[in-house]
Amino acid sequence: MTLIDGKKVADDIKREIAAEVEEMVAAGQRRPHLAAILVGHDGGSETYVANKVKACEVCGFKSTLIRFEDEVSEEELLATIDKLNNDPGVDGFIVQLPLPRHISEQRVIEAIDYRKDVDGFHPVNVGRMSIGLPCFVSATPSGIIELLRRYNVETKGAKCVVLGRSNIVGKPVASLMMQKSEPGNATVTVLHSASRDIKETCREADIIIAALGSPGFVTADMVKDGATIIDVGTTRVPDATRKSGFRLSGDVDFANVAEKCAFITPVPGGVGPMTICSLMRNTLLAAKKEIYS
Ligand code: GUN
Repeated sequence: MTLIDGKKVADDIKREIAAEVEEMVAAGQRRPHLAAILVGHDGGSETYVANKVKACEVCGFKSTLIRFEDEVSEEELLATIDKLNNDPGVDGFIVQLPLPRHISEQRVIEAIDYRKDVDGFHPVNVGRMSIGLPCFVSATPSGIIELLRRYNVETKGAKCVVLGRSNIVGKPVASLMMQKSEPGNATVTVLHSASRDIKETCREADIIIAALGSPGFVTADMVKDGATIIDVGTTRVPDATRKSGFRLSGDVDFANVAEKCAFITPVPGGVGPMTICSLMRNTLLAAKKEIYS
């Protein structure tokens, strides 16, 4: 069994990006600039955004954090997005989700210029990804594909089961896995809450990508010998032994599943660390105008 070390791959990629940025700067170009809008004080969002700002430093990017209180109006948020859309000094920006309930997330996402949408959430980027055109691919699916690439997991012709059909992970990763590309070219089955015969279908899979948010859902009896397991779950479960009071739990019963696998990602330290470096890569691509000129 090979443990897929997402932390190491993410550190390698950030080093590669930093080296490229220093070359750009030496050639007289300015540093890539990522802006982030954070609304409110949700603990998870605060941590995610702080980590994104830290990753910018590691990669040699400029970063700008714009904060609003929960009470900010949708109008004010949209006006800030408009400013960032029109600021030539900002290469890409994100609005951290979730947003307070009085603000339409969809309206906010669609207000972002798709050429600066380094989260890859705008319908133009989602649509272009689904038909195989250059675009910003969202962080978690592109992190998963990068892990499969760097560990040389055979995907061509493989039976791949995706558990979960979220817009952020399940749907896009299913789309990428079936794309005629490398990694990709797999036969993909998406299973969700209304699916029948889940265990039987999983047992046939060469690759399982679990993105349900249901701790320990994938058990050893659902996994065939030699399968590759990608665990996207990051549910916070209470743990009094931790300073934070919680630990992250994946969707896979790792202790019993790991010994059956060819490759498996741990939680934490698998897919998680990859997501931020996918955002960094998209920001670099935006700065270099490699996707949209
Ligand atoms: N909230 C949780 N994950 C993400 C993400 O990848 N991007 C944004 N903008 N918000 C999130």
